[in-house]
Formats: sequence, C-alpha cells, structure tokens
Amino acid sequence: MDRIRIEGGGELRGVIPISGAKNAALPLMIASLLTRETLTLENLPRLADVRLLLRILGNHGVDHTIAGKRPGELATSGQTLHLDAKNIVDTTAPYELVSRMRASFWVLAPLLARAGVAKVSLPGGCAIGTRPVDLLLQALEALGAKIDIEAGYVLASAPKGLVGGKIVFPKVTVGGTHVALMAAALAKGDTLIHNAAREPEIVDLADCLIKMGAKIKGAGSSTIEITGVTSLGGARHTVLPDRIETGTYAMAVAMTGGDVFLQGARPELLQSALDTLTRTGAQIVCDAGGIRVRRNGGGIAPVDVTTEPFPGFPTDLQAQFMALTTRANGVSRITETIFENRFMHVQELARFGAKIHLEHDTAIVTGVKTLKGAPVMATDLRASVSLVIAALAAEGETIVHRVYHLDRGFEQLEQKLGACGARVERLAAAE
Ligand code: UD1
Repeated sequence: MDRIRIEGGGELRGVIPISGAKNAALPLMIASLLTRETLTLENLPRLADVRLLLRILGNHGVDHTIAGKRPGELATSGQTLHLDAKNIVDTTAPYELVSRMRASFWVLAPLLARAGVAKVSLPGGCAIGTRPVDLLLQALEALGAKIDIEAGYVLASAPKGLVGGKIVFPKVTVGGTHVALMAAALAKGDTLIHNAAREPEIVDLADCLIKMGAKIKGAGSSTIEITGVTSLGGARHTVLPDRIETGTYAMAVAMTGGDVFLQGARPELLQSALDTLTRTGAQIVCDAGGIRVRRNGGGIAPVDVTTEPFPGFPTDLQAQFMALTTRANGVSRITETIFENRFMHVQELARFGAKIHLEHDTAIVTGVKTLKGAPVMATDLRASVSLVIAALAAEGETIVHRVYHLDRGFEQLEQKLGACGARVERLAAAE
C-alpha cells in the first residue's frame, strides 16, 4: 500500500487549481443510466471513486469514452467523459462493487425508473458511523416502488412504472434527495420533495437533469417540484468545482501560513467555511477567478463550529478544521451533528501532540504551540486529509499510511501541494 511522506514546517505559497467536485461527479455519472442518449460530462476529476463508478456503470451496460487532451489543456484540467447507456444489460449491482463506494447504491433509482426493476447490494463506503439507507428506500416507496431486502440486497420493482408522489424527508439527506430527483424525473405525474437537501451538488444534478429534459423547480431550496417525463435525452454538462477540496486547501494555508490562490474555486459554495476561517485570523479575498487565502505572522484564533446541512458548515470539512484548531491560541469546540462517530481522526491527530477531548458529539480542542511529525493512519477520506494538513504544519517527518483513502477524493494532492512549496512525496511501498 502506498504511503505519503511529508516534511512539515514550511509555508504554502502559490496557485492550486481546484478540480471538479467528486460529490457532484458521482450522481451526474449515475444519471447517465436515465437516458438512451449520450451524456457528456466536462471537468471530471481523476479519482479512484470515479474509476470505480465507471466499472459499476459498465456492469449495467454503460459504455464510456474519455476524450483525449485538447490543445491548451493542462495535466490539472478536468477530463471530458462521454457516457452511453443505450442498453441496460444488467439491473444488478453486486456486493463486490457497491461495498467499496457508498454512492454507487444510488444506481438503484435510475435502474428502477428506466428498467422497472433493480437489485442493488446494501452499501459500504467510509466507516463514519452507521449509514442507513432507509430514507432512500422510503422515497422510492413514496413513488410506488415495491422494496424487499433479501440476503444483503435491496430488490426494487415498479412493474407499471414509478408514479409521482409526496416525499417528506424527516432528516436532510443528500443521497436521499439525489435518489428522489432521479426517480421522480421519469415517474408518471408530479412529485413534491419536502425537506430536500440544498447542497450545491443537488443543484448541479438538477441542472443536468433539466438539460436532459427533466422538469424540476426549486432545486437548492428545501422544496423541490418535479413533473415526470416519459424519457430523457442526452446533454453536455460541466461538473461544478469541488467545495470540499477548496476548503481543505484553504485550511491548510490557514494552518501553515503563506499565500495561496485557489484557482476556479467558487466562494458561494462554501461561504460558511470561509467565514469560519476568517474568524481564525486567515484573510480571504474572492474574485471571479477563485479565492485567495493568506495568513501572515499572527496566530490562529480558536473558533467553535457545528456541522450542519448546507448552507451550514459541512461535515466533510470537520476533520480538516479540527487539524487547524489543534494549533490555535486557546480552546475550540467542534460539534458534529450529521454523522455519529465521525471522530476517528482524533486519535490520529493526538499522535502529532494535539490535545483533543471528546464529549459525546463535541470535540474540545486545546491548541498547542507545536505539533511533531509522526506515523499516522488514514481512516476515511476526509479524516485522512486532516492528517496531511497537520503534517504540513508539524515539525519533522510524517508518514501517512493507507493513502488509498486520499486517492478516492483528492486529485493530484502531492503535486498540488508540492507546487506551493510543500515537501510531500508518495512512497510506493510493498507492505
Ligand atoms: C453525502 C456525501 C458525503 C457527506 C454527506 C453529508 C456524497 C457522495 N457523499 O453522503 O460526503 O458527508 O452527504 O453532507 O455526496 N441517513 C439516514 N437514512 C438514510 C440516509 C441518510 O438516517 O437513508 C442519515 C445519515 O446516516 C446521516 C444523515 O442522514 O446521519 C445525512 O446523510 P446523507 O446526507 O444521506 O449523506 P450521504 O448522501 O451518504
């Protein structure tokens, strides 16, 4: 398994191009199952999760081509992917594939909407607490699907097709809203989604579905109205920039000090995180081309934060923010309300000398003057990058083990940080 070696202690200075969002790319790719025509996605990030989803879609009969580089494109420019689901050859998504990436469970919705039947393994993915799919299944049932669970598989059917209905989510769920949107787009009649997720990735999926011919109003608000259509067509859509990657690098700069321009980043996608960073003492300047983050001299002010659904502070930046506060001049309280047990990074951050104490859903972080490099273990996607951030600011050498977690969600991490002066290298090791 590969490892990453980081020699910490230096500032970050330079430009980091922001990639297309993983969490938008995945549902957009899955939406290709809804049409016989070609869906073209631009600005697709090069990530392990994207490659795995291509395999899963291939299993259902989706052909794909990735366009070659065009003149003027850089190694960091997003890819163009053509997806073609002319014939769905298999409506089963097997355990071996779905267990490796939770979002792949969402294929259930388009398979059911288009083929009237689907069999999808219950999901796996990041180990961040129990992550049930009950709300996703209830949404499909509200649209007339019959759902059974047998031997670890969800068996869904709608022999006469899905019918529009009222979906009321008791809790905000991103996956539930994606699934409801895709299923309702091809259901007969009108669907109303109450308490829908408002995340930018939901809006991106809705925008793409609208280009494909879906009738959707209100995406980005908590009530979404969909009028089903009998079929959807092809479209060309550009994946929005990754707000979690943006926030991650912004926090890295806030921690190490320096001056970095996050090229292509869009501030409105992570305003709450940027406001929180400003409160720690970082300077943030936004323009049409991206976001500039600076911290010179002054220390890091402690700040309390609570994770919330969008537009609140995202749970996917909680671990990174915790890394930053380990060196604040005082005590910060970080409360996680979205996922239980999303604190696996706490014990790894402690290896750097961080002082963190857990009380139920809150981490109480007492800032220390210096962190020291250490061998650490990546436990999930976002937790692992919090270790990278801590390592960049720590004195001496850190080895991050199990970096395959990072490869799932961060494109060219070593190159992007290396270009800003970080001493980061990948060790391809025979462990
Ligand atoms: C998505 C994101 C993930 C992010 C999360 C919350 C992708 C690929 N992943 O995950 O990075 O951390 O949103 O912003 O986009 N829940 C239920 N029953 C369900 C579904 C969810 O109880 O059927 C609960 C979950 O356990 C969690 C909360 O609802 O406590 C929110 O989860 P959800 O928004 O669905 O997360 P994902 O879509 O899985």
